[in-house]
Amino acid sequence: MVGAAWSQAPGSAGMGARSRLLADTLPELRAGRSSYGHCCSPASGTGAPQGAAMRASGRFGKRIFSVRGKRNRRRWRFLPRSASLGARRSRGSPGAAELELELELELELAPPRGCAAAARPCPVRSGAELNGASGEMVPELEKATVRIKHPEHVMGIIRSIKEQGMSKLQVISDFDMTLSRFGCNGRRCPTSHNILDNSHVVSEDGKKKLKDLLHYYYPIEIDPDRTLEEKRPLMVEWWSRAHDLLSQQKILKGDIAQIVRESDVMLRDGFNELFDQLHEYDVPLFIFSAGVGDILEEIIRQANVFHPNVNVVSNYMDFDDNGVLKCFKGPLIHTYNKNNTVLQGTEYFQQLSTRTSIILLGDSMGDLTMADGVPSVENILKVGFLNDKVEEQRGKYLDAYDIVLESDETLDVVNGILRYILIET
Ligand code: TMP
Ligand code: MG
Repeated sequence: MVGAAWSQAPGSAGMGARSRLLADTLPELRAGRSSYGHCCSPASGTGAPQGAAMRASGRFGKRIFSVRGKRNRRRWRFLPRSASLGARRSRGSPGAAELELELELELELAPPRGCAAAARPCPVRSGAELNGASGEMVPELEKATVRIKHPEHVMGIIRSIKEQGMSKLQVISDFDMTLSRFGCNGRRCPTSHNILDNSHVVSEDGKKKLKDLLHYYYPIEIDPDRTLEEKRPLMVEWWSRAHDLLSQQKILKGDIAQIVRESDVMLRDGFNELFDQLHEYDVPLFIFSAGVGDILEEIIRQANVFHPNVNVVSNYMDFDDNGVLKCFKGPLIHTYNKNNTVLQGTEYFQQLSTRTSIILLGDSMGDLTMADGVPSVENILKVGFLNDKVEEQRGKYLDAYDIVLESDETLDVVNGILRYILIET
């Protein structure tokens, strides 16, 4: 038997809920995968929002896959953002047979169907307007941040990837502003280059010069009115000048860990689930980054998610025998040459030629070619984070990416898709 009570916790953008579940069997908990369902009404909960009721269903362990609710007589979706489970023996329970489980769910209150559409006129359907089948498959696709030009096509690819199975799947992802956050509380988060630029090991003069480069070249990088051909030589210029400046700073290999620890870098919400899920199901994660490899590796190492299924191709620093940075190793990777021209000589794609289903994650138009080196792609789902200049860039992103996530600092949608592909039957 399962019983439940819940109360609302304070939350700003979303809504928090705490659920107490009582379960009576230890083996189920040990197995880590028993299903439960519970339903509660305002009358039974303490502090539940007026007129609210919630249903939850899911599994013990990490996975929560469906939470639905009613508020003020309208159906709202409570999208799971995180979940944790604690267990203790019930008071007064003499044996190990009765356990009290505490499940903490962090939920985002997503609008009922149709609301987002009314608020944001756009010829392309938002996630909230997708047909019910997609919502059933991947509830996260109904978040208001989701834009999809061809929903049926997208659902077809997702279904097909699932049919092919996890042994055929690989994830290819950009790092900066894709796995890492673009902003937090209105402030920009640093890229792997910025982490070095802002650190104590770079002189004031060096900092100013690097910032000047950023202010000059970044608007070019994201300018929707320039072609890739125009941008490419300018990006080579930016990267070369930045790497030259950094190479003059006598940066020590031994200082990298501390530089990262002291930085403001943040991985997107839900990164743990993404990395852990891929690791658990032996799905390779290939990070293809124009950032600084030594820095990004340290970020994921400190986050405890640098699992053996993760491979990185990026710009790596070259240190002399005393551990002092002397230059960057080639070939140079910038935003607009992320394709097989820089992957030649890396064995990675050869090893993965049987992984013909690809989920590609990026935030720039340059990330779209990251899978070009894979010999025989059968299914590819391109998910693009549109972080900056959303209105200006929307059209291009919708044409190029299958799913566009507008100003969404989370990996919820990617995790939802993976959960559907890897777990649910
Ligand atoms: P990514 O391909 O992993 O996203 O990394 C590229 C990002 O790094 C790109 O958005 C520009 C940024 N960048 C800096 O922030 N500072 C620099 O000095 C350079 C060369 C790039
Ligand atoms: Mg990026």
